[in-house]
Amino acid sequence: MPKYFNSNVVPEIPTGGKVFDLGCGRGTLIQEIINRRENSEIVGIDIKQAPEWNKIVGDKVRMEVVQEENFLSVLEREQPDVVTVTWVFHHMEYEQQKRYIGSLYKALKTGAVIVALEDSYSETLPPEAGQKRYEDFMKWDKENRQKIMGVLDWIANRIFSMRLSMPVPFAYRTLEDWKQVFEEAGFETLKMRFLGFPDDRDINNPQSLLVIRKP
Ligand SMILES: C[S@@+](CC[C@H](N)C(=O)[O-])C[C@H]1O[C@@H](n2cnc3c(N)ncnc32)[C@H](O)[C@@H]1O
Repeated sequence: MPKYFNSNVVPEIPTGGKVFDLGCGRGTLIQEIINRRENSEIVGIDIKQAPEWNKIVGDKVRMEVVQEENFLSVLEREQPDVVTVTWVFHHMEYEQQKRYIGSLYKALKTGAVIVALEDSYSETLPPEAGQKRYEDFMKWDKENRQKIMGVLDWIANRIFSMRLSMPVPFAYRTLEDWKQVFEEAGFETLKMRFLGFPDDRDINNPQSLLVIRKP
């Protein structure tokens, strides 16, 4: 995971400003941002605390448990320059995704950037990796693609990571869908990348990345 973040996510995070990692989990991405030494401050939030938080130390980093009812006020208080959100949205129901994106739009300042990584495939862009897997995957219809992604994610969370309480609501969207949801909320899309199918992961769901800006 650190390697995947370093190749695909960290280079997309603007340097200099304060980063807010929404759904930071164990803090893997936060650790990589700290190691890069290019951002002034990092705040991680999640709906539950992870034991690994204790190992992430530094005067520029903070982690906090934040439930949905407090999300907007915490975001308004923090005023980050960048929000990172990796593999979080598909653990929310579709309507909850939209509420979070609505709160992000409401609270973020003009010019703030969101870097989102999701289990998601593109219907228009070629994959950056895993062409053969992509061709096999696209032979299924849309409904079955959702099911394949759900089953793989369920195995990843329940069996490999032993996360017994993590919701897996199968709330995937295509890259084009994500773009539309962000734009309907008022954001503009700076970049869309269909990263494709990573070779070196046990669970090989398609990956997409968006860089979004509050205009
Ligand atoms: C698959 S993990 C990803 C963790 C981390 N972002 C990473 O990339 O390693 C999904 C995380 O999203 C968190 N999450 C789910 N719903 C959330 C919400 N409404 N607000 C904040 N975090 C949430 C979960 O608790 C979990 O830590």
